[in-house]
Amino acid sequence: MGEWYDNAIVYQVYPKSFKDSNGDGIGDLAGITEKLDYFTPLGVNTLWLNPIFKSPQVDNGYDVSDFYGIDPQLGTMHDFDTLVSEAHARGLRIVLDMVLNHTSDQHPWFQQALQGPQNPYYDYYIWANGHAGQRPNNWGSFFGGSVWTQHPQVKDRYYFHLFERRMPDLNWRNPLVRGEMIKVANFWADRGIDGLRLDAFIHLAKADLHQNYPTTGAGPVVAEGMFANLPAVQSYLAEFVAGIKADHPDLFILGEAASATVNLAADYTRPHADMADAVISFRYFPTEPHAARTAVPQNYQPQRLDWLGFKQVMTDWQQTLLAPRRLTLYWGNHDMARVATRVGSRRYPQRSAKSLATLMYLQRGIPVLYYGDELGLSNGTLASLAAFGDPTVTAFANAARAAGWSPERILENVNATHKLTARAPLPWSDGVGHGFSTVAPWLAVTQEGTPVADQMADADSVWHHYQALFQLKQQPLFTTGAWQLQDWAPWLYAYTRTTEHEQALILVNISDRKQTLTLPAAWQHPAASKLPVGSVARHTDSVTLGPWSSVVYMKKETTN
Ligand code: NOJ
Ligand code: CA
Repeated sequence: MGEWYDNAIVYQVYPKSFKDSNGDGIGDLAGITEKLDYFTPLGVNTLWLNPIFKSPQVDNGYDVSDFYGIDPQLGTMHDFDTLVSEAHARGLRIVLDMVLNHTSDQHPWFQQALQGPQNPYYDYYIWANGHAGQRPNNWGSFFGGSVWTQHPQVKDRYYFHLFERRMPDLNWRNPLVRGEMIKVANFWADRGIDGLRLDAFIHLAKADLHQNYPTTGAGPVVAEGMFANLPAVQSYLAEFVAGIKADHPDLFILGEAASATVNLAADYTRPHADMADAVISFRYFPTEPHAARTAVPQNYQPQRLDWLGFKQVMTDWQQTLLAPRRLTLYWGNHDMARVATRVGSRRYPQRSAKSLATLMYLQRGIPVLYYGDELGLSNGTLASLAAFGDPTVTAFANAARAAGWSPERILENVNATHKLTARAPLPWSDGVGHGFSTVAPWLAVTQEGTPVADQMADADSVWHHYQALFQLKQQPLFTTGAWQLQDWAPWLYAYTRTTEHEQALILVNISDRKQTLTLPAAWQHPAASKLPVGSVARHTDSVTLGPWSSVVYMKKETTN
């Protein structure tokens, strides 16, 4: 304990969608600098920026062609230095997204590697031979299709890519690669950044490539057992972190550990072992099993959060990652549909946006807020399936069409579940361009929702709720206090936070109906109530919470 990031409240900036400063429709670094005064009043003290390095933008910056340069669409190195110094002048920290697992195919290393095994960079990547037109194995990519793509000139020679085919994986078995990535990280740390979000680090190690993964189908299969969370990941991580922390002991290492279970997360955050300081896992949000079996794949069909499962997951994580380990708290990011669409209530959008925020962020852990969630934004809409430019959408649409779905229904389902429609330009104000840009934005997503300016002027807005919430979150009770779920009713998400002298009880009605809770004796006379949302009616020994209403009770003496 005692690191600056124990009190971090992180805001995830999707740079291309935050603020366009030069009228080309693309958000940029100067735009972020222009808006730096937005964060302190909101209660945010740390910004995580999605990748800003030079990139052909096949995957919005996760395909890096130069780790030492800023993408020209986003600005210049001068803009970057200005952003860092202006942020620091306001007490804001900057966390950069570091892509370790792969590069762009346009990266000079890969261009050299294409020249063949004699080239020193060949071994920076992962190659294997096919057999008579067959790929080396049946492993599937996260972005659809095989992980293998054939060398453009050499038949039967393939390179490996877990993501898009223009994003070849680096070969972490090669010590030169590991050294290069440490060099990159230190370069940015020397330039003054405060932390790194490690993209996809759980995939750095791969199993022996000469094996298929068991499956019934003929096509490629996403074989996580072959390339996720293998033991070597931990030694790669330790070497990398040690290589940075030697000179930059305060750098915050936030690992993206998408499929990590709670026990793996405990390994990845092992204290005093040069591991990550915290990780983000995608396992926080179990969904309800789909009622009917259907021929239409589930990936673009909305699935409701399984609340019991979620309570269990939170309990597991809170109790396993006890201090000095740290947790992250988040509802969404650029890889999933927005929380308002996934979890929020259609009938009570405002209330559910506020109550979900209270529910999540007063728990023990570091809040990581996805830009726009402070406005309660839901997923926007793209006008056509083609606008997604995503082969997995095409596959879904084909299956849905074959099952008799109408084009409108297909588009509606994809809009409500896709990551792209969660990346819309931030609406700053009403009117043309929504204060984001003076021209049409890079992404033609139509976004509904009340803009920043209106919400800042309205004391009852979701924005103001976040402000009050983050202010409360700064109290030691909510950063270090012990967490315990109080599972008193299925419609309720309740927990206590406890320190030696203080206690809080957080009550959230997660249903669309009015509900009454009999309060335990210890909570019948709280000293104070905070952050009321919706309708909260106190009676002598009970409280009635309207649909999606919530409240925080505080008292001085501790009872358990
Ligand atoms: C995880 C990132 O969050 C995602 O957006 C990206 O596509 C992959 N890693 C590949 O870098
Ligand atoms: Ca711009």
